[in-house]
Amino acid sequence: MIVKDYTEMSKLAADAVVGLLESKPAAVLGLATGSTPIGLYEELVQRYHHGLDFSQVTTFNLDEYYGLASDHPTSYHYYMQQHLFQYLNIPATSINIPNGATPEPAGECRSYEAKIAKVGGIDLQVLGIGTNGHIGFNEPGTPFGNTTSLVNLAPATIEANSRFFERREDVPRQALSMGIRSIMNCRRIVLLANGENKANAIAAAVEGPISETLPASVLQLHPDCTFILDQAAAKNLTHSRG
Ligand code: PGA
Repeated sequence: MIVKDYTEMSKLAADAVVGLLESKPAAVLGLATGSTPIGLYEELVQRYHHGLDFSQVTTFNLDEYYGLASDHPTSYHYYMQQHLFQYLNIPATSINIPNGATPEPAGECRSYEAKIAKVGGIDLQVLGIGTNGHIGFNEPGTPFGNTTSLVNLAPATIEANSRFFERREDVPRQALSMGIRSIMNCRRIVLLANGENKANAIAAAVEGPISETLPASVLQLHPDCTFILDQAAAKNLTHSRG
């Protein structure tokens, strides 16, 4: 879907979450970080104030920087508290984010997958997209069969994310990320993208060949995946679908 602007993109994404929670109050949500979903989270907070109940919801975040403690201001634990969790009534025990401070990353990844399986899988996964086509921190070249893993960040991602850090050298070089297979196992996917800098990645993901060199292209194979794009992010699509 192509919408007018960031506000409309965020509202439509919130509508998808609300629709799910109305039919399934104990839904399992997959959440993303970065600049893109901030408007969605603001919208969800508004809707919570208007009566939407999150008390039975379980959440799983896509990824976390490896080597950052959860209270580090650039960790995704911190981001999620700041932008969403502090405002909602999701029980702390129902919130799951990979532990980037673990001394045992392989065990942490295995247990993360086991937790997702234990609650019956993710009903709705929110995704952003990197300028290089990554989803989660699955960079170009990541095998489609991967589950949650310790991954290396691509130089383009380190560059893009350096805006959140004081110095480029401070950006962690690794992360724990749900894999492409973990993402493809989600029952429904909503990918959000706004801004011209995403236009090439979006065109390649939607209209290009399905290839591990452009991780988001795998979504062409998902049975229930919606892209919500602003005009700028959609501008390189040749077959715009309103
Ligand atoms: P952004 O990041 O929302 O900050 O653009 C998206 C991503 O890298 O997946």
